[in-house]
Amino acid sequence: MAKELKTKLDMASSMKTLLHDESRYFKSFNLFLDRSTEHECIQVFSDEILPGELASIGDGKCSFNVLGVGSGAGAVDIQMLSKLQLKYPGASVNNEIVEPSSDQIHNYKVLVAKTPNLENVSFNWNKMTSSEYENHVKENKENKTFDFIHMIQMLYYVSDPAATIKFFHSLLGPKGKLLIILVSGTGGWSHLWKTFKHQLCLSEFSQDITIQDIKEYLDSTGLKYQHYDLPSYVDITECFTEGDENGELLMDLLTETCEFSKTAPPDLKAEIMSFLRQPECTTEKDGKIIFNSTMGAIVVEP
Ligand SMILES: C[S@@+](CC[C@H](N)C(=O)[O-])C[C@H]1O[C@@H](n2cnc3c(N)ncnc32)[C@H](O)[C@@H]1O
Repeated sequence: MAKELKTKLDMASSMKTLLHDESRYFKSFNLFLDRSTEHECIQVFSDEILPGELASIGDGKCSFNVLGVGSGAGAVDIQMLSKLQLKYPGASVNNEIVEPSSDQIHNYKVLVAKTPNLENVSFNWNKMTSSEYENHVKENKENKTFDFIHMIQMLYYVSDPAATIKFFHSLLGPKGKLLIILVSGTGGWSHLWKTFKHQLCLSEFSQDITIQDIKEYLDSTGLKYQHYDLPSYVDITECFTEGDENGELLMDLLTETCEFSKTAPPDLKAEIMSFLRQPECTTEKDGKIIFNSTMGAIVVEP
């Protein structure tokens, strides 16, 4: 093998998925949340769209079963629970959570402890992945159904998103709804991932999946759903300062690669940095480089 090619392959093989390092993954994700409008944009969805979607799950009920899959530290879950409480004042809520990270579960519990008006909500954290939860439900022959299930920015981390949706959809009650939020099929994430999929997909998961793929899957099953665009942006200016620690963490999240700047082959790194400056990915505003991280939300009917 030519020496140059061997060096290239060795370098590429030193690239590891960010999921290998949970602590760095959450450091990157939290920084991303800090630099992005993601949670604000989901808040707008919760304020303006969700109440209408939740209106049909009630039907005289005074108790609701809610399931959050991949809830992380729970900030979005709490936003959504407050909308359910507003819609159905005084109703009790059993809130089940499926989340594999014990640190995130701890942060979620801390958030619950300091959030007012949660007296009518009971929380049950399951420290497991979605497929472990599926096995758990099947083994225990549980037949509990849910009025509202949400999977927000988590389907990238399962090996079979269609099977995952199918299973969680089967847990909906007769009027229940399943909310899925993922990156849109037209924003910067999709351009980046569809172009560099083969160099960047370092795990067995579906890291390049977008809401467009989910729509195609749902169309093939005939399930009914509503789709909403959620425009969102993230300031990635720091990524373009060589050696900037925050920039490196953001690059790790964008590429889902642990220590991307240090482990990616130089030509791949250069290609991606230049690709990120294309108008499909970023715009420049007041000297800042703003990445289009638009998401899509889908609400699936039972
Ligand atoms: C990008 S974060 C999103 C967290 C939260 N939903 C939000 O939007 O802020 C992805 C979350 O999915 C969790 N996760 C990863 N793999 C998972 C799996 N197989 N099943 C369930 N959750 C998973 C991670 O631990 C993490 O908390």
